Amino acid sequence: MAMRAVVYDKPFTVTIREVEKPKILHPDDIIVKITTSCICGSDLHMYEGRTAAQQGIVFGHENLGIVDEVGPGVTVLTKGDRVVMPFNVACGRCTNCEEGRSAFCTQVNPGFAGGAYGYVAMGPYPGGQAEYLRVPFADFNALKLPPGTEHEADFAMLADIFPTGWHGVQISGFKPGESIAVFGAGPVGLMAAYSALLRGASEVYVVDRVPERLAKAKEIGAVPIDFSKGDAVQQILDIRGGKEVDRGVDAVGYQATSGDGKTEQPNAVLEALIRVVKPTGGLGIPGSMYQVTQAPLILLLRKDIFLSHLVCKLFEKGLTIGTGQCNVKSYNRYLRDLIISGKAKPSFVVSHNLPLDQAAEAYDKFDPVWMASLKFCCTREESSLYY
Ligand SMILES: NC(=O)c1ccc[n+]([C@@H]2O[C@H](COP(=O)([O-])OP(=O)(O)OC[C@H]3O[C@@H](n4cnc5c(N)ncnc54)[C@H](O)[C@@H]3O)[C@@H](O)[C@H]2O)c1
Ligand SMILES: [Zn+2]
Ligand SMILES: [Zn+2]
Repeated sequence: MAMRAVVYDKPFTVTIREVEKPKILHPDDIIVKITTSCICGSDLHMYEGRTAAQQGIVFGHENLGIVDEVGPGVTVLTKGDRVVMPFNVACGRCTNCEEGRSAFCTQVNPGFAGGAYGYVAMGPYPGGQAEYLRVPFADFNALKLPPGTEHEADFAMLADIFPTGWHGVQISGFKPGESIAVFGAGPVGLMAAYSALLRGASEVYVVDRVPERLAKAKEIGAVPIDFSKGDAVQQILDIRGGKEVDRGVDAVGYQATSGDGKTEQPNAVLEALIRVVKPTGGLGIPGSMYQVTQAPLILLLRKDIFLSHLVCKLFEKGLTIGTGQCNVKSYNRYLRDLIISGKAKPSFVVSHNLPLDQAAEAYDKFDPVWMASLKFCCTREESSLYY
């Protein structure tokens, strides 16, 4: 049987194509009929040809839908259940999984700690920007949601960006009452700021240069800082009478740019964080640092100098640092319950819905011009653009 899916062809080209519908391959698998799948900043890394992604990958690691088929080994889930999947594919049985570090599962992607749907080098798991998705180790990897269609856009944020924003705050060592600076007001940065506010931050600064994104940051109660108007660190220090913040989050990654947005400066945010966070404070770095195949030559040539300079600064200030992919499984159940109880509404980043058939145009239209200001979320029947 065939189904429609978003297939990567070559840099800046994806096609909606008929591919084989996934089947149960192991007793622990389920097949999910996708109702919402989002497009992520990380998908754009592949789309833009920054990675080693090969032709034929079905994109989509932010997936929500209805259980359609159930393998004989599955015990918790039944056909018809509404589920959201962490972007991580994990076994639930290895040491890292047992200890809550499911982003570093050692069993699902030989030679690498961590697996994901629809992502280069993250294992043999086609993505969910498609009509159906195979979910391995399903009892572990699918989180049940209340039936119906309520909170669809909020729950879609549970696959990646809400937990990832929360994780960025968590690995910075944040405690209630502290101040925090978040660099990047894309979906991950906005979710980090939102999480910090939910968790009782005294002050939250959000740095970006895209007006719509800064406006969203302001709307949720953060202080927007426009780094196109001057050094972001100085702006924050000026507001605080020269006092550094307790914590910092890098929600930009290696695609950090200069203030005019024209030049990529992969180390800019890390350097800014080291300056703006107080001695013995903490940095959380969920922003991606690993796809450097097309990083500016200067970074590749001077990696040693770049690293030693930063390491010295970290040492001087006694900073702690947390980084890596988000262990979505550690947070998604609780964040789901915050949504159900009405305490969190992460879909405030969503602005439009589009059908799957328009996904290719949407990738094309919003990249690269819109890349810095919009992301989108594609559903089978409708999908969402989000700031
Ligand atoms: N760790 C994880 O598990 C995980 C999960 C999802 C995404 N990510 C990564 O998180 C990062 C952010 O994701 P996103 O979808 O929000 O990305 P995005 O591209 O939508 O947003 C990045 C934002 O950073 C801003 N920016 C660029 N240079 C800056 C600078 N010098 N200072 C401040 N802001 C700057 C841009 O204007 C943009 O708005 C990406 O690297 C993505 O791959 C990591
Ligand atoms: Zn994602
Ligand atoms: Zn595992």
